Amino acid sequence: MLAQARIWREQGLTIGLVPTMGWFHEGHLSLMRDALNRANRVVVSLFVNPIQFGPSEDLAAYPRDLERDRKLAAAEGVHVLYAPEAAAMYPQGFQTSIRVADLSCGLCGPSRPGHFDGVCTVVMKLFQQTRPHFSIFGEKDFQQLAVIRRMSRDLDLDIEIIGHPIVREADGLAMSSRNIYLKGQERQQALSLVRTIDYARQRVAEAAQPLVVRDLLAELGSRLVHEPGCRVDYVAIIDETTLRPAETVNPSCRLLLAVKINDRVRLIDNAPLGGWNETAI
Ligand code: PAF
Repeated sequence: MLAQARIWREQGLTIGLVPTMGWFHEGHLSLMRDALNRANRVVVSLFVNPIQFGPSEDLAAYPRDLERDRKLAAAEGVHVLYAPEAAAMYPQGFQTSIRVADLSCGLCGPSRPGHFDGVCTVVMKLFQQTRPHFSIFGEKDFQQLAVIRRMSRDLDLDIEIIGHPIVREADGLAMSSRNIYLKGQERQQALSLVRTIDYARQRVAEAAQPLVVRDLLAELGSRLVHEPGCRVDYVAIIDETTLRPAETVNPSCRLLLAVKINDRVRLIDNAPLGGWNETAI
């Protein structure tokens, strides 16, 4: 991969990387299309990264079908589908880890210890192997995007990190490879996330003055307890750049939430809240 990337660079070609864990859905395909519009050569990496899964998480169950994914990527016109083996990525003796300290701590951090260290480490390796000029990540993992932006800045990577808007099913459910775990009525229960987002956005749009975040979160929390089969991991309203909790809803605020459906399937979603903007009046 690196030899190929070096040749492209010598030829003056622009390389775009779309890192994935496979089981492609429309969300992945739209990242690929975005990359193809920006680069001369697009690499899609497909690697179910063991070091970003906790011991009780779904590493073994994670859906995999290389042949299916290969066809989908080829149909989009992707130049290379790069699917390294775990033993090649982490040979015996591997012991390095990259940690973005603060941004990894909150939100998904407490329920997924070590997760973002695993993400940063693998993404850094993928960057080294594919030598991209830019890399595209979905905004569904909003914290991941912020963490990778920070890593890229802190380590002077000279790689543009591009966020791509969430792609949703017709009924609003954010696309995710993990949606395949939803069985029967769980698919309907999963809409609790998008219902919460819609409600919050509507409350903000209708407010005559800035809403107090604490009050809005209390409202969202009390609605979510009545959602059947839905256990809240967190609901947060944060500043988009620092990921720090906001006090009042303002235009740079985003609502982030994580819930477990039937104590089994953990789903995340997020959306900008817009909000009361003094300059708009
Ligand atoms: O978002 C994902 O699919 C993964 O976390 C990533 C960025 C491919 C790293 O394994």
